[in-house]
Amino acid sequence: MTIHELRKKYIDFFKSKGHAEISGKSLIPDNDPTVLFTTAGMHPLVPYLLGEPHPSGKRLTDYQKCIRTGDIESVGDPSHLTFFEMLGNWSLGDYFKKEMIPMSYEFLTDPKYLGISKDKLSVTVFAGDAEVPRDDESASIWESCGIPKERIYFLPREDNWWGPAGETGPCGPDSEMFVDTGKPKCGPDCRPGCHCGKYFEVWNDVFMQYNKQKDGSYPRMAHPCVDTGMGIERTVAMLQGKKSVYETEAFSSIIAAVEKATGEKYGADADKDKSIRIISDHAKASTMILGDEKGVSPSNVGAGYVLRRLIRRAIRHGRKLGVEGKFLSTLAEVVIGMYGEPYPELLRNRAFILDELDKEEDRFLVTLEKGEKEFEKLLPNLLKNPAKVIPGRIAFRLYDTYGFPIEITEELAAENALTVDKDGFDKAYEEHQKLSKQNTDKVFKGGLADHSEIATKYHTATHLLDAALRQVLGPHVQQKGSNITAERMRFDFSHPDPMTPEQVKRVEDIVNEQIARDLPVTMSVMTLDEAKASGAIALFSEKYGEKVKVYTIGDFSKEVCGGPHVEHTAELGHFTIQKEQSSSAGVRRIRAVLE
Ligand code: ALA
Repeated sequence: MTIHELRKKYIDFFKSKGHAEISGKSLIPDNDPTVLFTTAGMHPLVPYLLGEPHPSGKRLTDYQKCIRTGDIESVGDPSHLTFFEMLGNWSLGDYFKKEMIPMSYEFLTDPKYLGISKDKLSVTVFAGDAEVPRDDESASIWESCGIPKERIYFLPREDNWWGPAGETGPCGPDSEMFVDTGKPKCGPDCRPGCHCGKYFEVWNDVFMQYNKQKDGSYPRMAHPCVDTGMGIERTVAMLQGKKSVYETEAFSSIIAAVEKATGEKYGADADKDKSIRIISDHAKASTMILGDEKGVSPSNVGAGYVLRRLIRRAIRHGRKLGVEGKFLSTLAEVVIGMYGEPYPELLRNRAFILDELDKEEDRFLVTLEKGEKEFEKLLPNLLKNPAKVIPGRIAFRLYDTYGFPIEITEELAAENALTVDKDGFDKAYEEHQKLSKQNTDKVFKGGLADHSEIATKYHTATHLLDAALRQVLGPHVQQKGSNITAERMRFDFSHPDPMTPEQVKRVEDIVNEQIARDLPVTMSVMTLDEAKASGAIALFSEKYGEKVKVYTIGDFSKEVCGGPHVEHTAELGHFTIQKEQSSSAGVRRIRAVLE
């Protein structure tokens, strides 16, 4: 089964079970300051899992593009991916375990769908602890489906619990499904969840049934929800009996293009294979980020910085394999060809993707040249070193400041009869990693978007700001992202030039006028076409004919949006723009507060 077939089968299966297919969303989350990228299928659905009604109903299914960069440095091994797709289905207070588990069982085992032998399936359920009871209900439903007791494992909180993002909120046990790969057990304790490769996780059903309170109690939710997630690439690798996602067609044509660009053959040399995997993964992830509805460009902050790192790491490994000129846009063409159908935004953004990759490659090549010049400047001193060794900290500075790969430093060193203190470099590198990992951990914590009153106010303010910017600057203004915390809002939008102080003032005044008018905020559900025909602002991520929510603020603003919002604009208080600055090429950023 190919990734495209699996995607279709999953969606068709859940449609046949009364689910509405909804569109996956942008890779850049809206209104969630805790993460840079959409990391799971449930991510864009958080407001609905928290109780906001969804315009498409209570049974939903979709495929969602995801990026996980927390472990960017582990990409290169045979299993880690930066970009992946997640299939999911949701019950928003509709069905629960007794419907979900049999549906999972049917999809996994029915030959019409995945046709996995039930003898190879094991499942895990929550073992319970002092706070929450054991999930016997799920275990007995699995048993009645035909999974014998000895293949139902009760695991603790760290394995089978889906916590609330913050201190409080919806949470519950989950149940994970594993396929036995036939490998021998790695030891007497080997069981699903063990990382030796015997058990392959294919699916996760999360049962949100408790609403954790501030006092630490776990009352049951009146309308519990189901959230499930299945990784497409992993599942296809398992179904095809492949050891690695890189051996499936999710990567074969990209790897073929890398082979062509580098003249290397995948599978011939372990070190080179690693570089080929890095190039393939990063080229795919970069193409997806550049081709996203929100069109991120490489930059030195946030998602743009992650993109830059991905592109530059791919280039470095390309050079390591002997590529001299630019090569990433040829790989991007392959990715666009593969994914243009499920993600048509890639086709619309094709020129942008190729152009940005070319420009970033040019910039990085300049960086490398600067590094070479710096090396030449340092050389006379380095040659005076009697041990003929370049200290690790100097090699690291070249790497860190000039983006100069250690391999190139080593090559230049060798040409001058010098060596590099590789241990010293590794030490400096590890220290730096520790620091930057702390930083990324902070950024990539993940979790539920803030649903607080203040966040809701800021959310409504983004709509007023969006409409005011269009009035003052023109209809070309498009929202490129927003980021809300309890203290402030940030709003990115397309506009070629810095705003003048007069324009800033004018926008601020317009927003405050609309607040003073105390306009009602109303919501109606319609198809995307109806929404556009009614003049609503919409990003083009929804599917043709799909139902969407349109929020209208008096006669002033109309936008397709998931909500939630305040009911009257006077609730917002006073709006002040604190800063207007550049965010990336062609994109401006406003920071504003409500007081
Ligand atoms: N949200 C769950 C996951 O990501 C389904 O595994």
